[in-house]
Amino acid sequence: MLDITYKLMNEEIEQKIMRAFGDWTKEYLEKGKNGFKLAALFMNEPVGFIIVNPSPLAESPFHVEESQIDLIEVSIKFRRCGIASKLVKQAEDWAKENNHYQIRSFFSLTKQGAFKLWYSLKYCLSPASITVPGYRKPIKGYFAVKILT
Ligand SMILES: CC(C)(COP(=O)(O)OP(=O)(O)OC[C@H]1O[C@@H](n2cnc3c(N)ncnc32)[C@H](O)[C@@H]1OP(=O)(O)O)[C@@H](O)C(=O)NCCC(=O)NCCS
Repeated sequence: MLDITYKLMNEEIEQKIMRAFGDWTKEYLEKGKNGFKLAALFMNEPVGFIIVNPSPLAESPFHVEESQIDLIEVSIKFRRCGIASKLVKQAEDWAKENNHYQIRSFFSLTKQGAFKLWYSLKYCLSPASITVPGYRKPIKGYFAVKILT
């Protein structure tokens, strides 16, 4: 059994995540200022993390907020140990504490592990195509959504 600890991120952990997972994580880490950023650590080094941000549901008839999972990653060597499931569970708890109606993630068709993760966690899976600034073609994938109330 691996001795994994889960910690809310601080500056030091964020720097370590950028080193371990790549500079591309920086924009997500910076965006997550008002959200929930949790790291999974093994021997004090990050081996997984989740970044979640609150977001109002656009044009809803009354104020409803959701939690948007912007990023969830686990290092290849540490996959299939239950780390992502624990990160998601803690993100769900945070979202519930903040009275969010639902929690949502998008993953592309290339992420087969993600499909299996959300399926195993019993999330609703809705096929979708999204446009992302910087990408010429729409990205095909799925929204994975869970009601929290
Ligand atoms: C998807 C990802 C986050 C899963 O992380 P993880 O820590 O390995 O997930 P868990 O160990 O919690 O898996 C829980 C369950 O999900 C399913 N699952 C997850 N990844 C799987 C895979 N690659 N193949 C088969 N089943 C998988 C299994 O049912 C697993 O339970 P089990 O191991 O007891 O059978 C990880 O593979 C990853 O970082 N992938 C690249 C980035 C990515 O796709 N991010 C998600 C975008 S939304």
